[in-house]
Amino acid sequence: MEDVESIVARALAEFSRAADPAALENAKARYLGRSGEVTALLKGLGALAPGERRGAGARVNAAKEQLERALEQRRGELAGARLAARLAEEALDVTLPGRGRGRGGVHPVIRTWQRVERIFRSIGFDVADGPEIETDWHNFTALNQPENHPARSMHDTFYVELKDAAGTPLVLRTHTSPMQVRYARMHEPPIKAIAPGRTYRVDSDATHSPMFHQVEGLWIDEHISFADLKGVYTDFLRRFFETDRLQVRFRPSFFPFTEPSAEIDMRFESGPLEGKWLEISGAGQVHPNVVRNFGFDPERHIGFAFGSGLERLTMLRYGIDDLRLFFDGDLRFLGQFA
Ligand code: DAH
Repeated sequence: MEDVESIVARALAEFSRAADPAALENAKARYLGRSGEVTALLKGLGALAPGERRGAGARVNAAKEQLERALEQRRGELAGARLAARLAEEALDVTLPGRGRGRGGVHPVIRTWQRVERIFRSIGFDVADGPEIETDWHNFTALNQPENHPARSMHDTFYVELKDAAGTPLVLRTHTSPMQVRYARMHEPPIKAIAPGRTYRVDSDATHSPMFHQVEGLWIDEHISFADLKGVYTDFLRRFFETDRLQVRFRPSFFPFTEPSAEIDMRFESGPLEGKWLEISGAGQVHPNVVRNFGFDPERHIGFAFGSGLERLTMLRYGIDDLRLFFDGDLRFLGQFA
């Protein structure tokens, strides 16, 4: 029979070679398990002569205890190593700077919107807001464009699958001008308001987008004239572009809701766009039929209106030449305004 010492030596070597708890428990079974080698030695003691049994029993029991202590120690080592490995793997350096969140920015067209509001508020204009899904009456009829009026075809209109009380389909407003009617019908003169917002037309190329922004202006009192329009709008442009070196001209035009009507052009006297006349807005004295639809007497209440494109103002202010950049959502473009 192999002597106890060499069995112990083999067992100790196997315990310390065991690289994980499962290997260690297998090694334990080979020596201390029910059919393990040390267990077999214990069982064999009964077969020894009584004189030998005592000494052999003491040695085998001492060997068993030694192995149990070694086993416990190795279990502790493996558990410690496992914990250390997990800690290393999941290490978190709390002193690293955070990743932070990307800072958002206000879209350049919305910057213009806010800027326009600020300027007009400072000269006493109220700021109004209204629906983008509009009745045919507010968008066209009340603005002096009765059914079948050719002016309606000036706008390619998105119709909505909803109808107003009279059964007429609703439209996505093609301009902010219906806000003139809504605002005037809810207020008494003097009326002095702007209405910035989104507008929609079936149109899409480098200078047209199916959704775009306008700002409507309306000033109605007992003696508001075209001269007031010139003064207010010229002052607005100079403040918006932060320069007095800018000329404004009013070119005769046609809109069904104004008479006379004008296209407002401007020209920078310096800078990259110097010398070029640029179309910036429609405007005019509000047509008597429209004043009547406001619920006022056109013999008493008169005034002007204008409707300007916010994308257009933004493009001129920043020197942007393609409208589609506003709607692509490309952060390389938008980040320049943040
Ligand atoms: N609503 C017109 C358009 O979208 C712009 C406009 C022209 C508005 C003249 C006005 C105005 O208030 O007086 O083309």
